[in-house]
Amino acid sequence: MKADSLKISEGVYWVGVLDWDLRDYHGYTLDGTTYNCYLVFGDEKTALIDNVFPGTSAQLWARVEDAFKKEGKEFKIDVIIQNHIEEDHSGSLVEFVKKFPHVEVYCSKMAVSGLKNHLPYLKDFDFNVVGTGDTLDLGGKTLAFVNAPMLHWPDSMFTMYMEDGILFSNDAFGQHLCLSQRYDYETNETVLMEASQKFYANLITPSSGIFMNKVKELTDLGIVEKIKMIAPSHGQIWTKPEKIINQYVEWATGKCKDKITFIYDTMHHSTQKMAHVMAEGAMSEGVEVKSYFMHEDDRSDPVTDVLDSKAIFIGSPTIMNNPYPSLGDIMYYLTSLNFKATTFNKKTVIFGSKGWGGGSNKRLTTDLEAAGYEIAETFETTYVPDSEVYDKCYELGKNIAKEIKQL
Ligand code: FEO
Repeated sequence: MKADSLKISEGVYWVGVLDWDLRDYHGYTLDGTTYNCYLVFGDEKTALIDNVFPGTSAQLWARVEDAFKKEGKEFKIDVIIQNHIEEDHSGSLVEFVKKFPHVEVYCSKMAVSGLKNHLPYLKDFDFNVVGTGDTLDLGGKTLAFVNAPMLHWPDSMFTMYMEDGILFSNDAFGQHLCLSQRYDYETNETVLMEASQKFYANLITPSSGIFMNKVKELTDLGIVEKIKMIAPSHGQIWTKPEKIINQYVEWATGKCKDKITFIYDTMHHSTQKMAHVMAEGAMSEGVEVKSYFMHEDDRSDPVTDVLDSKAIFIGSPTIMNNPYPSLGDIMYYLTSLNFKATTFNKKTVIFGSKGWGGGSNKRLTTDLEAAGYEIAETFETTYVPDSEVYDKCYELGKNIAKEIKQL
């Protein structure tokens, strides 16, 4: 295997893996991703920050060897920083421990039991536990650690290379992108920000309050002002860290657009047609509309747009007194993500068609109210919508659009 490293600062290299072929990661659709790892060469010790998904380490080893050649140093890793235990960042830790038996592994207290559980080979390994306030001197290069629990797992932590202000943030600030470029300034801004939004919506949303507290803590510690670069564990490296930090603050505090996200499925096209006419009404007021047909679409996409929408419309026909099954998938996900954590109470409309007894609207209302959503309207038709129903659908879309423009 041959693969090149990329020098990102003096004595600091990106040595990650490009996983061009991954299309789904725990239910999150993507078009490839990267597992970013970094080598930091101190005068006395060399540290590897994070590692990669099981079975993908050939690229990592090739890039690590390339970086050592470029630095002209003996091929020896002294320190591994394990910022997070999930296997896309820890899946080759055992390989490195076997290759370098005297390596020191640094991780958070919460990470130890998780690493031993995931990697039985290391069940008796002596991990070095670090947390906020701890530092490690590599010889002219200082790594400082910051606990970051629930950003996005309890074990998560950040590592800051203090002299050059590089924050190795692991998943936080990442994107599931697999591109030939590594930096933000080389990347189409729309592509970069949409991928960042999808990542935030699917991984960070429930921890929005925790994120805001972390920003305050890092600001109080004087770390935020020292960050010159954010090097996450997925996707592009941020050379303008304020861009993504400010964007995260906006998402975390519920800054939403005049935008409505429609999420629906249909049995005989009635609910689908209602959704389309409601969207027409909303668009007549100039608000942005995004539409997801759950017969085809994956759950990780609609929640991306829910994040910055002021209203959501959920539509389903009734089948056996309940919503269409595909709505169950997105409902579990929507309620688990707890968008209320972003502090904005989205207007929620529930609609659909029924044959006789109905039941879908009632179930969707009960479940969403239990999850803290405020139901603005419910609307139901029997069998096939007629022109009067379509008029009402149009007006409903238009009225909610008018209301959200005032928020
Ligand atoms: Fe990229 Fe939580 O793993």
